[in-house]
Amino acid sequence: MAQREPPYSDRAEPWRVKVVEPIRRTTREARERLLKAAGYNLFALKAEDVFVDLLTDSGVGAMSADQWAGMMVGDESYAGARNFYSLQDSVRDVMGFGHVLPAHQGRGAEHVLCAALLKRGDIVPSNALFDTTRAHIEHVGATGVDLLLETAYDTKDELPFKGDIDLAALEALLGRAKPGQVPFAVMTVTCNMTGGQPVSMQNVREASKLLGAHGVPLIIDAARFAENSWFVKEREPGYEERTILEIARVLFGYAAGCTMSAKKDGLVNIGGFLAFRDGEMYEKCLPFGILFEGYATYGGLAGRDLEAMARGLREGVDEAYLKSRTDQVRYLGERLQAAGVPVLVPVGGHAVYVDAGRFLPHVPWYEFPGHALACALYLESGVRAVEIGSLMAARDPETHENRQARMELMRLALPRRMYTDNHIDYVVQALAVLYARREEVAGVELVREAPVLRHFTSSFRPVLRGKSAGGSASPVPS
Ligand code: F0G
Repeated sequence: MAQREPPYSDRAEPWRVKVVEPIRRTTREARERLLKAAGYNLFALKAEDVFVDLLTDSGVGAMSADQWAGMMVGDESYAGARNFYSLQDSVRDVMGFGHVLPAHQGRGAEHVLCAALLKRGDIVPSNALFDTTRAHIEHVGATGVDLLLETAYDTKDELPFKGDIDLAALEALLGRAKPGQVPFAVMTVTCNMTGGQPVSMQNVREASKLLGAHGVPLIIDAARFAENSWFVKEREPGYEERTILEIARVLFGYAAGCTMSAKKDGLVNIGGFLAFRDGEMYEKCLPFGILFEGYATYGGLAGRDLEAMARGLREGVDEAYLKSRTDQVRYLGERLQAAGVPVLVPVGGHAVYVDAGRFLPHVPWYEFPGHALACALYLESGVRAVEIGSLMAARDPETHENRQARMELMRLALPRRMYTDNHIDYVVQALAVLYARREEVAGVELVREAPVLRHFTSSFRPVLRGKSAGGSASPVPS
């Protein structure tokens, strides 16, 4: 008799836990003291004072037994280490790029790319740049332009590919630009700044064609290319039967190269690279890679790190892993929505983004609702999240005015292969409690502001006004 598949949960993880790391809960009293001492900047907390850490999905996940085994065959030669060639093989197999320049992480790769290819006055169009990419572009005097469709900024719009670039706007920009003023364009997959939203293959194909007609190469910010490929398989007609690996190869086929933060879909704690299809861009980047990151075959990494990255890149496109990964993010999103908490939909690949603008309508944008909510969540529960909104949007480099972000979000990023659904349930409970007392959460203002990437190192204080400042869910008065 044919065996029938039992109706078991298909959410069981395709891995088991081999090593555990204790985490501990703190008291609310302790958290009030700790947050105040940190200048209301969650980056300034000691990680051991955080219970569930959803600050980022970057470099914080669990490596596999195979990756750890790879660490033991690290070749620590200065030049030509075997692990570099292993990385080169992985990049060629997964992405189809033959020229690889390692870097210590994504922003290291961005630094090299921008120094090598950009000059003052240049323009870099994109769907939406991540903050470090934008900062590197601005650092050399060029301008990054986000060209998402309007729908990307509507947290309630359920469209499947809200990371798509506005092709008409891209065409107009390319038409306006002076010859040579657009040295490359960037597609960020998935789009971190607007909710971890994927880009459709059709959009990448059409953008690439348009750019090609103007002689502009496409660079993919590949940090979450595997999660993007998963969504293409799940949502885009014609890709249902393709493997993730095939989809990734098609995706990169439209690009001249990529920058990669392997701390995301490369499943490592540190590492990144630039990769190119042909030698010309590689040759331009090479001297800057050596200057900023290290020799061409190690780029600021130990041989063992290169090996972990080479293996992680292949694991990152495993379908069972990607299903479990995106399922857990979706589970968090669905549970929060069931509790009435406003979240950006559809839920993205690596994180759930709480709509802090709707959660805290009484906090104006210049009092950073996303950051105020993240402070309140830490106080309530010891869960750490991060603002993606007007605080991260920083100031205009020309006018020095605060830039108002299009959305005020608080991101709950899920580290890969790390937390269980019990942790997720804890986070949901904390946010549900906070939502019931949302009127008590006060805004925050800057006390000390850093000139570059200010969200990392600035300090704040709660805005004390009327009753809100005394509320139990608000940051404590300083
Ligand atoms: N590109 C994207 C889309 C990113 O999300 C990040 C980092 C980078 C580039 C830079 O890479 O950190 O290795 O230098 N994002 C992290 C985050 C920091 O929390 O979203 P990196």
